[in-house]
Amino acid sequence: MKFHIETWGCQMNDHDGEKLSGLLSAEGFEAVDSAEEAELVLLNTCSIREKAVHKVYSELGRLREEKQRRPLLVGVTGCLAQQEQAALFKRAPHVDFVLGTMALKQLPWLVAEARAGKARVMDAGEYPDNHLFPASVARRRDTAKALVTITEGCDHACTYCIVPTTRGAERHRPFQDVLAEVRGLVERGYREVELLGQNVNSYAGGCTFADLLDRVSEVDGLEWIRFTTSHPMNFTRDLAQVLATNPKIAPFLHLPLQSGSDRVLRRMRREYTIAEYLERLGYLGDHRARIALSTDLIVGFPGETDEDFEATMRVVDEVAFDTSFSFVYSPRPGTASLRLKDDLPPAVKSERLARLQRRQAELTLASNRRFVGREIPVRIETHGPTEHGWWLARSGDWKTIHLAAGPGRELPFGELVTVRIVQASPHFLGAELV
Ligand code: SAH
Ligand code: SF4
Ligand code: F3S
Repeated sequence: MKFHIETWGCQMNDHDGEKLSGLLSAEGFEAVDSAEEAELVLLNTCSIREKAVHKVYSELGRLREEKQRRPLLVGVTGCLAQQEQAALFKRAPHVDFVLGTMALKQLPWLVAEARAGKARVMDAGEYPDNHLFPASVARRRDTAKALVTITEGCDHACTYCIVPTTRGAERHRPFQDVLAEVRGLVERGYREVELLGQNVNSYAGGCTFADLLDRVSEVDGLEWIRFTTSHPMNFTRDLAQVLATNPKIAPFLHLPLQSGSDRVLRRMRREYTIAEYLERLGYLGDHRARIALSTDLIVGFPGETDEDFEATMRVVDEVAFDTSFSFVYSPRPGTASLRLKDDLPPAVKSERLARLQRRQAELTLASNRRFVGREIPVRIETHGPTEHGWWLARSGDWKTIHLAAGPGRELPFGELVTVRIVQASPHFLGAELV
């Protein structure tokens, strides 16, 4: 049977897709590149904002038509599956099975039941060993960086966020498991890993997150370690120290701020003030200038005033983030922020978002311009040049590099090469081989 998995959402979901793909491959199923070729389509969904949910339902609509033309099994997994559970069958009666985010290993069983003709099969249970999924089973996408789960779930309770509902309470993978997986990946040729969790720095799998980074960095042959996502309240001095001084930790920190107003942060239940956020960045000391900073911001949170928004603009300027991801607040089912009055006109929200994003583009450009003329190591992330003739690569601080290698020149996928930066734009750095 040919299968295709379509994944939306964050890196955790990407990696779940790799695990699910591995499970089906182990059953003898064959992965294909498009839904059109597949006899089984699995939608690995995200529900972080309403727009993400719309994308899923629109794809489900397309698959319903396809299902009328030919035999096709349709399954839904990921965060929307966990959130909606059996309600999904009501909204989309042509869905054959629903698999929750904490029951990945049940996939072969669900598929077998659906193939045997059973309608509306579901497992959205919370299996306490979901985070112990055997690493060797994952069928990884062809990327230079390997994703590695260290924690699942989230114990915070941000009032706007659906993730604690869709991913459950925190579970931590023992550090010995993490180390064994990373060693295996390096043996298979990977030089870079990204440690994953909704909140990696609350890690408690037998050591602290700072210790885990140090231990992982001792794996011979590994060059860069990344991690995502961190919560500001779990960003300790020890972690800052490791990030600043361990040369294998890529010089990049994604630390979601969400808002620059203490009043809004309180209503979001983010558990920090602006002063505390800035204090934590200060833990990086003089290394701060060398480490690229990235953040997430929500505009138009219920009750956000002009002054609140201006406060966000001020903090964004003060910190001068290298990049940020910003979104208009999206009301999510079952979240506490639904009880807050949300009377800001949508036009005002989108105006604020546009202003913030314009400012960020200027900051990113300024940050990128500082690289021009420098020689830096970058990792080759494609197997050949794009149609425009350059190769795609990434720097340690996660800048996108467009690398001109010259005609006919082959570059080693997944390896580091030294380049000179010759051009800066808000979205990438242009580079030449040294
Ligand atoms: N665990 C991560 C966040 C995961 S969600 C953390 O705590 O940082 C990724 C981002 O989506 C969040 O940082 C937030 O900026 C945004 N987000 C989450 N819920 C949202 C909502 N209801 N509306 C708009 N943006 C949201
Ligand atoms: Fe959501 Fe907050 Fe948990 Fe991040 S820390 S996943 S924003 S509840
Ligand atoms: Fe989306 Fe779930 Fe990730 S809601 S962002 S796929 S944890």
